[in-house]
Amino acid sequence: MGPEVGGAVARAVAERVPPGGVVLEIGAGTGEIGRHLADLPVRYLGLDDARAMLEVFASKLGPAPGPAEGSVQLVQADAERRWPVRDGSVAVVLASRVAHLLEPGHLVQELHRVCRPEASFLVGRVRRDAESVKSRLRRQRERILRARGVAPEGGAEATRRLLEGMVAAGATELEGREVAAWTVRSSAEEVLIGWEAVTAMGGTELAAPTRAEVLDELREWALHHIGDLGQPFDSTEHYTLAGVRLGAHHRPAATGGTPEPVALPADAYLESRWTIPC
Ligand SMILES: C[S@@+](CC[C@H](N)C(=O)[O-])C[C@H]1O[C@@H](n2cnc3c(N)ncnc32)[C@H](O)[C@@H]1O
Repeated sequence: MGPEVGGAVARAVAERVPPGGVVLEIGAGTGEIGRHLADLPVRYLGLDDARAMLEVFASKLGPAPGPAEGSVQLVQADAERRWPVRDGSVAVVLASRVAHLLEPGHLVQELHRVCRPEASFLVGRVRRDAESVKSRLRRQRERILRARGVAPEGGAEATRRLLEGMVAAGATELEGREVAAWTVRSSAEEVLIGWEAVTAMGGTELAAPTRAEVLDELREWALHHIGDLGQPFDSTEHYTLAGVRLGAHHRPAATGGTPEPVALPADAYLESRWTIPC
């Protein structure tokens, strides 16, 4: 994703934040989106369990913003545990390219706890053309996994189920939106090398020998169906935002109390001081 995409996503997210409102990004990574939110008049809190990612993010930030411009804080924390965020303090939660990795029950529980009434939960995803090299390889990888008894679930299905579950429980679906589209050039070889580095396939953690066998099988298939594995192909990728809005009567699940006012002091929404200076 280029900086123009990150900037466009940040602006689309900020549209949903009331003045002085807090945006919480789960799995903020190296700040491809968050660094742009940091330039907008919102209070931004980026959470990630990988300190190295947050350090890269922090290195991209300019001088600390003034009080009128909002505030930025980065926190190292595992989103699969209790989030270091106060009950009822957040106006928008963004999960970009990460929601499908998180356990949905815990995610929804923490969303309900930290969100203000009428807060939005936004899920960002990158959608690829169905005939791109990566999409073709991904479909074949799913077939190989199924043949091995693994039931793969793509990020798109996992996200759809998550949001549908929230709507069934009373949230309102927000209209999905394509925020940006861009062209990428990649070869089958590049995709396969990228997959050698990941430990999960189709949403399931697999042992290293199994992953290696799947990739060998996939490489064999690609040689027959794609041909030259080093040949680069152009395709379009699309960044989409989907989401839900919590109800006006939503109350943080953990307290049942009235949330604090929107204008919080800079550190009021943080329970932990384990932040990376930025
Ligand atoms: C693909 S990156 C997306 C980064 C950013 N949201 C974006 O779209 O540019 C996924 C990020 O989620 C983080 N992540 C994955 N599981 C996590 C967890 N359980 N708790 C916190 N962060 C997590 C990873 O460390 C990584 O930085």
